[in-house]
Amino acid sequence: MSASHERRSYDVVVIGAGGSGLRAAIAAHEAGARTAVVCKSLLGKAHTVMAEGGIAAAMGNLYPEDNWKVHFRDTMRGGKLLNHWRMAELHAKEAPERVWELESWGALFDRTADGLISQRDFGGHRYARLAHVGDRTGLEMIRTLQQRTVSLGIDVLMECTVTDLLRDGDRIAGAFAYWRESGRFVVLEAPAVVLATGGIGKSWKVTSNSWEYTGDGHALALRAGAALLNMEFVQFHPTGMVWPPSVRGILVTESVRGDGGVLRNSEGRRFMFDYIPEFFKAETADSEAEADRWYDDKRNNRRPPELLPRDEVARAINNEIKEGRGSPHGGVFLDIASRRSPDYVRKRLPSMYHQFKELAEVDITAEPMEIGPTCHYVMGGVEVDPDTAASRVPGLYAAGEVAGGMHGANRLGGNSLGDLLVFGKRAGEAAAAHASALGSARPAVADAEVDAAALGALAPFDTEGGENPYSIHHELQEAMQDLVGIIRREHEMQIALKTIHDLSERSKTVSVEGNRQYNPGWNLALDLRNMLLVSEAVALAALERKESRGGHTRDDYPMTDHDFWGKRNVIVEQLPDGGLGIRHQPLPEPPPELAELLEGDH
Ligand code: FUM
Repeated sequence: MSASHERRSYDVVVIGAGGSGLRAAIAAHEAGARTAVVCKSLLGKAHTVMAEGGIAAAMGNLYPEDNWKVHFRDTMRGGKLLNHWRMAELHAKEAPERVWELESWGALFDRTADGLISQRDFGGHRYARLAHVGDRTGLEMIRTLQQRTVSLGIDVLMECTVTDLLRDGDRIAGAFAYWRESGRFVVLEAPAVVLATGGIGKSWKVTSNSWEYTGDGHALALRAGAALLNMEFVQFHPTGMVWPPSVRGILVTESVRGDGGVLRNSEGRRFMFDYIPEFFKAETADSEAEADRWYDDKRNNRRPPELLPRDEVARAINNEIKEGRGSPHGGVFLDIASRRSPDYVRKRLPSMYHQFKELAEVDITAEPMEIGPTCHYVMGGVEVDPDTAASRVPGLYAAGEVAGGMHGANRLGGNSLGDLLVFGKRAGEAAAAHASALGSARPAVADAEVDAAALGALAPFDTEGGENPYSIHHELQEAMQDLVGIIRREHEMQIALKTIHDLSERSKTVSVEGNRQYNPGWNLALDLRNMLLVSEAVALAALERKESRGGHTRDDYPMTDHDFWGKRNVIVEQLPDGGLGIRHQPLPEPPPELAELLEGDH
């Protein structure tokens, strides 16, 4: 007898309502599919809004010499050449079109003096190419997409959490979810599901991610039989707030540096000059004078080292703090006050101005900010076909942060918003085509699958006096922060893995009190299953890759190994016994015309 639940039937169900989810839902709907988009939280509250600085797209509005080939090369170099070349190519080619489309749907971008869409500088991008709306670009993108979603009449299931994917044999048949408000279950029948769940940041203590980002899509994919790619690559954004403690980790946009802000240590030294890696030497200014000239004459000067890719800047900050040259609250200083007028700062960085004023009582037009690295993004994710976003599980697609491959070992700032739009659209279209091609031969949801999902979800109510989900979450965050953070060591990751295994065992007897209505303890208990599984995948992959590259720095293997590790992806997948297995897979090689663009890079 099936557990009490509501049933809805669709062609395409999109899980996640950030940029990629909404764009996928719009595409699926426009392709004629009966579509629903499920959001864990309220519509509009997505990590997409944390991509504040802009959408990277080679539109050439400020630099006509910019084009998709330059953007492709920047993306591959930023990703330390571990990107899937085809994803980087599609992204670089299609991002401009997606930005213009967004504008035609009502997004209000800042303009150049000539009335074109304004584009700003960000780390690792050769030209100013981030289309932006002040420092609230992600917010404007979500506002535009949600307005279109609602106006098209797409079903939006808010405050609804998916706990399991349902399958018919190997094929996707739908998803099992609960409404946070009532705790009641809902079965979403659909032959195509798009995962657009974003990231995994809540497994770390200091993160820009909010409560929703518990690796749900990564874990659902693993459990459904998909493979995860390169999970060792986790991005620590160099600049998160460090003070007061209640706001530690909240993002401070890279636009502050793009618009002239510099990093200083407790001695007042602009320390990034000490950390210019060989790989980026030719394009990085090595004196303050040249770096400062660049803001006025970008064609004839090299870029300031504050605009190196994020992995480089985060490591440098980490080192300054470790060497005792940090700020009073354990960060370093980000100074725009001494470099730009108060009017300029308030106009270009309005959100940062208010964020620091209101949360830290700091006036960033008059004093420096204290900042430090914060876990922001995961480059690893579901292995997908670049053109269709299809995983290896029939009917399962993944787009945006939950998908792997696009960003290689490190994502360039601004490349996330373009990624969401380009691959969200592709995923939605492919999912709709898959559903339509099935005709009446649709997979069926079996009662036994639904019962098992319901039983699993209710288990925390059936255990008395068991483990507290908050304690387990806290211990997991401590372990990931301290042992699988910016700098990694074999013996520490071994300890992390043991801790994760112990916590996973303990989590089997997690118990919660009260009823199912708006019960945050119960909700966390269910999210914990995902966080523990995904954290194990990260630790395993990080232990496996014995080199340093992008967002994966090994103290015990400091070199980048081009010949061995530079040619392979690390794959994590679930084994028949439920454990996680690891294997290597050759990195796809770009065709000669694209390889030529990367000549000299390694
Ligand atoms: O710094 C930022 O504004 C973040 C952008 C991004 O993650 O792409």
